[in-house]
Amino acid sequence: MAITNNDTIKTPAGDPLAPEPAMTDETEKNPALDFPIHWLRQTSPYINTHRGKTFVVWFSDSLIEADNFTTLVHDLTLLSHLGIRLVLVHGMRVQIDAELSRRQIASQYGTDSYSKRRMRITTTESLPAITAVIGDIRCQLESAFSTGLPNSPMSGAQISLMSGNLIVARPYGIRDGVDYQHTGELRKLRVQKIRTLLNAEMVVVLPPIGYSPTGEMFNLLSEDVAMQAAISLTADKLIFLHSDAGSIGSNLHEISTSDEQGKNEEQQFADSISSVIERSTYACKNGVNRCHIVDANNPDALLRELFTRDGSGLLINSGDYDNIRLADTNSVQGIMALIKPLMADGTLTHRTEQDLERQIDSFYITEREGSVICCASLQIANNAAQLGCLAVHPDFRASGKASEMLDHLIKVARQKKCTQLFGLSTRTGDWFLEHGFKEGSAELLHQLQRAENTRGSKLFVLEIR
Ligand SMILES: CC(C)(COP(=O)(O)OP(=O)(O)OC[C@H]1O[C@@H](n2cnc3c(N)ncnc32)[C@H](O)[C@@H]1OP(=O)(O)O)[C@@H](O)C(=O)NCCC(=O)NCCS
Repeated sequence: MAITNNDTIKTPAGDPLAPEPAMTDETEKNPALDFPIHWLRQTSPYINTHRGKTFVVWFSDSLIEADNFTTLVHDLTLLSHLGIRLVLVHGMRVQIDAELSRRQIASQYGTDSYSKRRMRITTTESLPAITAVIGDIRCQLESAFSTGLPNSPMSGAQISLMSGNLIVARPYGIRDGVDYQHTGELRKLRVQKIRTLLNAEMVVVLPPIGYSPTGEMFNLLSEDVAMQAAISLTADKLIFLHSDAGSIGSNLHEISTSDEQGKNEEQQFADSISSVIERSTYACKNGVNRCHIVDANNPDALLRELFTRDGSGLLINSGDYDNIRLADTNSVQGIMALIKPLMADGTLTHRTEQDLERQIDSFYITEREGSVICCASLQIANNAAQLGCLAVHPDFRASGKASEMLDHLIKVARQKKCTQLFGLSTRTGDWFLEHGFKEGSAELLHQLQRAENTRGSKLFVLEIR
C-alpha cells in the first residue's frame, strides 16, 4: 500500500526527536500507517555523513542463496541512491564446493605451517568449475540489480554493476611441499580504474579472482580481497555481512584497534569471525576508518548498523579515540585552562582547581600536542551515567571532537552496564538533541539534582543498550 501524506502520523512540528507516537486503534488495524516518520528524520545525519563515502561490502557465499538476498540488493540499491560509493566483494566457497561435487571433482585443501590458514588447492582440473561459478554469481547479481518493477523498492533504480580484470594476482605457490596451483594472493588492485567506475556512479563488483601479468587466473580468498580493496581505496568503511556474526553475541558492540587484543582474549568467537576481526583490525591499522561485522541472517542488520546510533553489529574502529584518555592530576591545569572562560561566561558550572583535583578520576580528555583540547566528566551511579563539563577548545570546534568524546563515554558507560546517560545543559540543548538525547522530565531532573538547580539547567537523557 502506498503511503500518502494523509497516512503519516504527525509528530510535533520542528521536533524530529519527539517520542514515538502511541499506536492508535487505526494504526493497530493498519500497520502501514505506523510508518516511522521520526525514524526517517533521525537518519538524516547519517545520510549526510555517508554521502560520497566509499564502502567496501563483503557478503558471504550463503547469503547469495538465502531468502534475504533480495532484501540485501534493495538495501545496497538504497545506499547507492544515497550517494554511497559501493564496492561489492562476494564469497563463493559453498558454490564452488557444490559445483565441484556436481562434476565429481574432489575439493582439496591444505594448511601451511606458517599462516595456519586452510586454503583451497585450486587445481587446473577445477578451474572450469570455478569460472562457471563466477559467471553464475555475476549473472545472479546483475539480474537482481536489474529488476525494477514499479511496486518494488527497485522501481526506477537503474543501478549499473561493473566488474572486470581489476585485480592483479600472484600464485600462493608451493608451501610445505604442497602446490596450491591456481590459488593466489592479491598483488595489487587497479585503483584508478575502480575510482573511475565509482566516479561514474557504477557499483563495482570484485569477485575473488585475479589475473597475473602472464595471463594466468587465480582463485583468491574473498575476505582478503575485501580487506585489500578497502585499504587500497582508503575506504571509509569495510563491512562484512557474515552468516556467523550471530556468534559475536549482543554484549559486544565495539572494538577499538587499541583494545582489540584484550577483547579477543576475553571473548571466544567462531573461527570465521576471528578471521574477519583480524582482517578488520589490519584494515583499520592501514587507513580504513571503520569496519563493521554485521549478521547476514538478519535482513534489517545492515541498515540498522549504518543508520542508527546503537547499530546492530560489531564496530571495529581505527582507534580514532586513541587520544581520548582518563585524566590524571597532571591534566588539571590543562582542563582548567580550557574551562575557565566557559565558567566565567556562565556556560559551565563553576569549579575550583581543588574541585577538579578531587573529581579528576571521573574526567576524560583529548590531547593535541600536550594540550587538553576537549574534556568531559562521567559520573556513574545505579546503572546511570552523568556527562558533565563537556568542552572543546574554540580552535577545534565543529570537527567532531565532542561527538567523539560522547561516543567514547557511551562506550565506557556501556562497559559499566549503564542503561542511561544524562546530561544537564543551559545552552547546549540542541547539541544533545542532535546527538540522540531526549529532554528528561522535571521530576527526573529534580531527583537527579537533589541539590538546588540554581542554573535552571535542562535535563537530557540518552538510552543506551
Ligand atoms: C558544545 C561543544 C562541546 C561542541 O563541541 P564540538 O566539538 O564543536 O562539537 P561537534 O563537532 O561534535 O558538533 C558540532 C556541531 O554542534 C553544533 N553546536 C555547537 N554548539 C552548540 C550549541 N550550543 N547548541 C547547538 N548546537 C551546537 C555546531 O554548530 C556543529 O553543528 P554543525 O556541524 O551543524 O555546524 C562546544 O561547542 C563547546 O565546547 N561549547 C562550549 C561549552 C559547552 O557549551 N558545553 C556543553 C555544556 S553542557
